[in-house]
Amino acid sequence: MARIIPAEGAMDEAAGLLRRGELVAVPTETVYGLAADATNGEAVAKIFEAKNRPRFNPLIAHVDSMEMAETIAEFSPLARRLAARFWPGPLTLVLPLKTGAPVSALVTAGLDTIALRMPVGVARDIAAALGRPLAAPSANPSGRLSATTADAVEKGLGRRIRLIVDGGPARVGVESTIIRVDRSGLTLLRPGGVPVEEIEAAAGTAVRRAGPGASVQAPGMMASHYAPSAAIRRGASEVHDGEALLAFGSHRAAGAEKAIAMLNLSEDGDLREAAANLFSHLRKLDESGASVIAVEPVPGGGLGAAINDRLARAAAPRDHPHAKSGAGES
Ligand code: TXA
Ligand code: MG
Repeated sequence: MARIIPAEGAMDEAAGLLRRGELVAVPTETVYGLAADATNGEAVAKIFEAKNRPRFNPLIAHVDSMEMAETIAEFSPLARRLAARFWPGPLTLVLPLKTGAPVSALVTAGLDTIALRMPVGVARDIAAALGRPLAAPSANPSGRLSATTADAVEKGLGRRIRLIVDGGPARVGVESTIIRVDRSGLTLLRPGGVPVEEIEAAAGTAVRRAGPGASVQAPGMMASHYAPSAAIRRGASEVHDGEALLAFGSHRAAGAEKAIAMLNLSEDGDLREAAANLFSHLRKLDESGASVIAVEPVPGGGLGAAINDRLARAAAPRDHPHAKSGAGES
């Protein structure tokens, strides 16, 4: 069972655990979040493991200040206006990721955009104490309802985490509104705590509503968003001429020495380390110029399910970009 401690006086302990790469459940004004240091890939991998998430949905990064936000994302004038009006508060902005942003690629699931929000109260204070953004999805096992009390977090995840910071019942009780801001304007990705009408009034422009069902679909799940330019060949037991190799564990595919580039997800066969490396390794191998990335078999248990799901999406035929997309429950 996790320890539940009141928010007052929990800051140092929470920040200490997060700094050491542990998970901490934290209250926000919307719902409780399962937080990790967003700059630490292995810590972020633990989120997917604890929630038993079968795939890597991109996560929201929670910041304490505009200063921290600006190290991570590119703010257009419109994005800045929305942040000034609604932060701290239940609005998440999906913005272009800044090059070199100090955030694990597992947070964005390899996308070049990032979901950012500044929460009210305790979660913000913890991000400030840590001095780093917090990656945090809702603190519930995958496929279950979001938790709005420390008790609900304990019931769902208590066996998998050490500390729950209790800030009382969440004031808003539904997740944040998610708005993508890009050159074409504003798009609603998920309705939530801030009514869209208020956002339109503040922005002075209409918010595009995605089609029916789209709001429950994790937008980042489209296969096309993820596709590297190289083809992906999974379950490789040998390497062909001109291929790059994404290795796993200590046993090498035959002909590995002729790979034009090779990176190992985890020498030790550790799935948490593999998850943390997945998106950045794929990107680097893609940049090697290989036309095919051969991928050694990755076992399916635990985080292996999400890793294999991601690899299957990356391998999906490009002419059916939506073929492998799925409902993104989070
Ligand atoms: O109120 C909330 O937003 C809560 C609290 C803890 O902050 N968090 C939350 O996180 O609901 P989560 O992981 O359950 O939902 C995040 C949603 C997912 O549907 C994910 O697909 C989407 O945000 N998302 C994250 N990054 C994205 C990106 N770069 N582009 C599009 N969608 C993104
Ligand atoms: Mg959720």
